[in-house]
Amino acid sequence: MTAAIHVERLSKTFKRYQPRRYRTLKESLINGEVFERRLSERVEAVKDISFSVSPGETFGIIGRNGAGKSTLLKLLCGILKPTSGRVVVHGRVAALLSLGVGFHEQMSGRDNVFLSGLVLGLSPREVRARFDDVVTFAELEEFIDAPVWTYSAGMRMRLAFSVAVNVDPDILVIDEVLAVGDIAFTEKCLARMREFQARGKTMLLVTHDIASIAEWCQRALWLDQGRARIIGSPADVAQAYLSEFSEAASMSAMNAVA
Ligand SMILES: Nc1ncnc2c1ncn2[C@@H]1O[C@H](COP(=O)(O)OP(=O)(O)O)[C@@H](O)[C@H]1O
Ligand SMILES: [Mg+2]
Repeated sequence: MTAAIHVERLSKTFKRYQPRRYRTLKESLINGEVFERRLSERVEAVKDISFSVSPGETFGIIGRNGAGKSTLLKLLCGILKPTSGRVVVHGRVAALLSLGVGFHEQMSGRDNVFLSGLVLGLSPREVRARFDDVVTFAELEEFIDAPVWTYSAGMRMRLAFSVAVNVDPDILVIDEVLAVGDIAFTEKCLARMREFQARGKTMLLVTHDIASIAEWCQRALWLDQGRARIIGSPADVAQAYLSEFSEAASMSAMNAVA
């Protein structure tokens, strides 16, 4: 069976530049240059990651802030190019990355829905056919002609989620965005995600909540400083993840006492 997503020895390094600084007159005379050389720091956001996701599988990615989860997703969606390694994806991917990414602020919600639909590979006719469902699901009937910069974070999330699920992708990628909505809307999203699973579609779920890994995923990857600590069943990943944090917690408790 062909994998829905195949990731092989994937790495991504960012260069982070320090701001330039003028030298003082004395320093420039000594060094012969007015500007200090720009120092660049390399950030290895994703390091040598390999895994495959089968069609119909829900695969989780867990890790702390800055672990490289969003970078990994962006590599999978083709938004970022790998520094080395490769990604092969079979099927149409709809991604809900961080909020509002992909929306054009000055354009109305309506125009953004059309544009996103086209970007996700639908024809104008297909977008028109799904337009009302997108707006109704997002509960944005009254606001759909207002520019997106007037939307709240919750409204953006509703629109982005609604577009992603209504374009009927083969692979749905979700980067911890559900937390932003109100409870009623989150429930609606979760129901759609269950329906998506039941139809045998593939999902990639990023979270920092180990309970949702157990609830949703067949397998998961724990990402720690860009590296894979463990890839396995939710139970194995939860055990490894929690034991690390209980150790860290008891260490800091001991330090606090000492
Ligand atoms: N465009 C970028 N330029 C430079 N560094 C980046 C960029 N994007 C992410 N990083 C860095 O890569 C690391 C991983 O970030 P990220 O993938 O956002 O982690 P997570 O989603 O797990 O919180 C962090 O150290 C972050 O600062
Ligand atoms: Mg992130």
